[in-house]
Amino acid sequence: METSLNKADIVVSGVRPSGKLTIGNYFGAIRNFVKLQESCDQIFCFLADIHTLTTHSDPVELKNSVKLTTAIYLGCGLDPNKVNIYAQSEVREISELYLYLNMLAYMGELEKTAAFKDKIRKHADNINAGLLTYPVLMAADVLIHKGTKVPVGKDQIQHIEMMRDFGSRFNFRYQKNIFPEPQPFSFGEEPIKIPSLGGSGKMDKSGPEDHAIFLIDDDKAIEKKIKRAVTDTGPTEKNSVKPESIENLFYLMELVSEKSVVADFNARYNDSTIRYGDFKKQLAEDMIQFVRPVRERILEFYHNDKLLLEVTNKGADAARKSAQKTMKEVREVMGLK
Ligand code: TRP
Repeated sequence: METSLNKADIVVSGVRPSGKLTIGNYFGAIRNFVKLQESCDQIFCFLADIHTLTTHSDPVELKNSVKLTTAIYLGCGLDPNKVNIYAQSEVREISELYLYLNMLAYMGELEKTAAFKDKIRKHADNINAGLLTYPVLMAADVLIHKGTKVPVGKDQIQHIEMMRDFGSRFNFRYQKNIFPEPQPFSFGEEPIKIPSLGGSGKMDKSGPEDHAIFLIDDDKAIEKKIKRAVTDTGPTEKNSVKPESIENLFYLMELVSEKSVVADFNARYNDSTIRYGDFKKQLAEDMIQFVRPVRERILEFYHNDKLLLEVTNKGADAARKSAQKTMKEVREVMGLK
């Protein structure tokens, strides 16, 4: 995993549109993306709407998710003057490159991909060719801009390796160095895992709704969810080890509360005078203070169709320009008109 960026890097990353992004997505990914926009000049951040078709997304929902996810990224601080934001489907050259790269992707390697094997298990009734070639479309997303750095989580590293393979296979096959080798990127910190309110595991946007805090949850919803978060019956002796459910709530508190507040509740836990009611009340208050301004900004963008359109048109224009340049070279070396 690369941990440094330089100005000349071309950063490309996609997100599957989902209106249900959580504070887990914020602290795990979006926040880093916002940070990196200061570090380099060419950044492409797109909504992977074509990728969602592999699981037969509903057309109306898809359109709305693309809109809401764009609003979420803007609301979280992505600056459209620094980052090109667009929907993958708006840049038709991506689909064209995907088609050509498919000729260089082998069945064997695609079938072996961890994400594909996982999908087979989960969607046994819909194992389509698009699912199999998911990594080829990802490669097209990045190679089309000659991307060098791809900020992703651990689960996507295998896909980045495959991108490199497809790109260098293309270069070798056509004896021309067209594509660079994209590297996975992270800011050096261990990827953080935001815990669920359900007592164990990570916060999952597609898990039980009550166990996740969504960036567009209103104050009441946040309060209710935290109030109902799983706990145990409380420490019975001093300095006892926290069970996972309590450890998780403390972890969330560390993200949104003042250090002194966390220290205070830790001390109360350790001398076993903590009352979970108070603890949760404080956590809910601080969580609300954190989410409220973000949510308000998101909704402001979400309800401003004109601005959203301006942002994505501008992003798509820049992405198309970059894509057309690459495709001209690609068609030429392939012997296509
Ligand atoms: N597959 C990625 C995910 O599920 C999203 C994605 C699509 C992506 N194309 C990409 C990420 C290209 C990085 C680069 O999170």
